[in-house]
Amino acid sequence: MSYENKLSEKVKQIKPSGIRKFFDLASGCPGVISLGVGEPDFDTPWHIREEAIYALEQGNTFYTGNKGLDELRKEVAFYLNRRFNLEYDWNKEIFITVGGSEAIDITMRTLLNPNDEVIIPKPAYVAYEPAVLMSQGKVIDLNLTEESGFKITPEALEAVITDKTKVLLLNYPSNPTGGVMTKEDYEKIVPIIKKYDLIVVSDEIYAELTYENEHCSLANFDEIKDQVILLNGFSKAYSMTGWRVGYIAANQVFIDAMLKIHQFAIICPSTISQYAAISAARDGDSDIERMKESFLQRRNYIVKGLNNLGLTCHSPQGAFYVFPSIAKCGLSSDEFCERLLKEEKVAVVPGTAFGNQGEGFIRISYAYSIEEIKEALSKIESFVKRVLTEKGN
Ligand SMILES: Cc1ncc(COP(=O)(O)O)c(C=O)c1O
Repeated sequence: MSYENKLSEKVKQIKPSGIRKFFDLASGCPGVISLGVGEPDFDTPWHIREEAIYALEQGNTFYTGNKGLDELRKEVAFYLNRRFNLEYDWNKEIFITVGGSEAIDITMRTLLNPNDEVIIPKPAYVAYEPAVLMSQGKVIDLNLTEESGFKITPEALEAVITDKTKVLLLNYPSNPTGGVMTKEDYEKIVPIIKKYDLIVVSDEIYAELTYENEHCSLANFDEIKDQVILLNGFSKAYSMTGWRVGYIAANQVFIDAMLKIHQFAIICPSTISQYAAISAARDGDSDIERMKESFLQRRNYIVKGLNNLGLTCHSPQGAFYVFPSIAKCGLSSDEFCERLLKEEKVAVVPGTAFGNQGEGFIRISYAYSIEEIKEALSKIESFVKRVLTEKGN
């Protein structure tokens, strides 16, 4: 019997993650310096861990309600208001998910009918396309360019809208490009979102890692707030990737519909993690500032280093990734990364892992210590020099 034939057609069309593929290669190589993984390298702040220990000691090891702990939802509502000037009813408009990852999946499953079109600005986070395909939606690429700082322009957005468009799925600050959309950038696309009744799924998991500007959400625009489904979580802002807590804030119609899936598929995220997240949302503002300051120093260091090597990159305005151009090396993104891994034992991710639009770029995470970044940069330098010599430059 062929077990392959037993798999659903939907699953068969999903390609394995380009990041995973690369890390499988890297894990077979001892002594590799990896600047590939998108997770903060800080310990989860102690007060957050303490809250989890306390929850365990208290025997809080049972299911919570499907929407998550009331206290956590109240803290999330306060937090969104305090940090981003957003107003949500904690009881009707917020529920707790297993990270931003569940939020992405469940949103697509709730919204899409077969062949509904979802516009994804690309290069894009690797989980978006599979989530749309698993829900039988159709992905429509909106090509972002380095020249525009990887921002969505009104012209580019309007050009890809059809009568089947239902959702705009966006992510600012962006993984992988580090691009952000400012209030002024959003002002230009809000009328289009309104005109075409688009539902916006806004993944704001890196909101706290916005450097030069204030973070702005499309949900800050009253005229479209009810069209926006906001996804966020604790992984990146508080260095809590393994705790698996995220949340969705949206109007009640969407929340109630999403809960229909969440209650059967998930029941609730880990109770202990939810207790820990209360402490993060309530008392974690200074942790965020401390980690952000450190990311900013690393960003400045790596951007300068890469530009000195001629791997030009704009300075990322948010998140913790740089997306330099490797055009001058004359290699494809895949070739560059495979050779860099083999010849210098440095792992970074090919831009093509985030869509064809990433060809000619690599993604480097700077959620690593300055020492690691320094060592990796010196190896990248040797590699680039060798490649250019081979080319006869
Ligand atoms: C843009 C983006 N969204 C969502 C996620 C998933 O985050 P979580 O750990 O909350 O599931 C990631 C993780 O890398 C991400 O980069």
